[in-house]
Amino acid sequence: MPITVAASLLAADFARLGEEAAAALAAGADWLHLDVMDNHYVPNLTFGALACRALRKHPQTADAFLDAHLMTEPVDSLITPFAEAGANRLTFHPEASRHPHRTAAAINAAGMRCGIALNPATPLATLAHLLPLADLVLLMTVNPGFGGQPFIADSPRKIRETRQLLDSTGNEKILLQTDGGINPKTAKLCATAGANVLVAGNAIFAAPNYQTAITSLRQGEKD
Ligand code: DX5
Ligand code: ZN
Repeated sequence: MPITVAASLLAADFARLGEEAAAALAAGADWLHLDVMDNHYVPNLTFGALACRALRKHPQTADAFLDAHLMTEPVDSLITPFAEAGANRLTFHPEASRHPHRTAAAINAAGMRCGIALNPATPLATLAHLLPLADLVLLMTVNPGFGGQPFIADSPRKIRETRQLLDSTGNEKILLQTDGGINPKTAKLCATAGANVLVAGNAIFAAPNYQTAITSLRQGEKD
């Protein structure tokens, strides 16, 4: 399956968010990944639905696939604002919802795709009753809250286990996304272990050339 590259705006120049997002898309990023942080579920604060709406209205990002990753608690009160702001997917952490099945169903009912995000210590069993409502599983390859962290070395094992779980339960079409510390080396580890969507922030926005950076993230697909 081809690799999808989701550019995380967390590492972009926030003073030029629209331009940076447009540049990442022009350089070959498939999706814009919005890391929404509330300084409650994670010890950091970024942006909310207003930023999503601004990107949806910006001429150069109006047609972008907006992949919102909610590192927020609670979750439910943000579903309608992000749906109205034009998010294509809302990915949430089940631990951040009192009733994750209800949350996932509400995301779908609001017309968005639903992703389930697992932290490094969150077991795969958490997925059991949520997969029928999801089109993506996000495996955190760092602990959530900050960009630029090192890739957790044990991540490939969890990626392989998740790929096996998806394939063995007839869920092979569910996307397997990894997020955190993704660079050309770790991208290859993730792709080899079964991931097909890679979130990258610093590997793209800290690079001198975004196109070269995105191309090198896809190398794992070719080797
Ligand atoms: C953590 C964030 C980061 C970010 C990517 O909560 O989700 O993983 O998207 O960060 P980089 O690619 O810069 O490590
Ligand atoms: Zn993210």
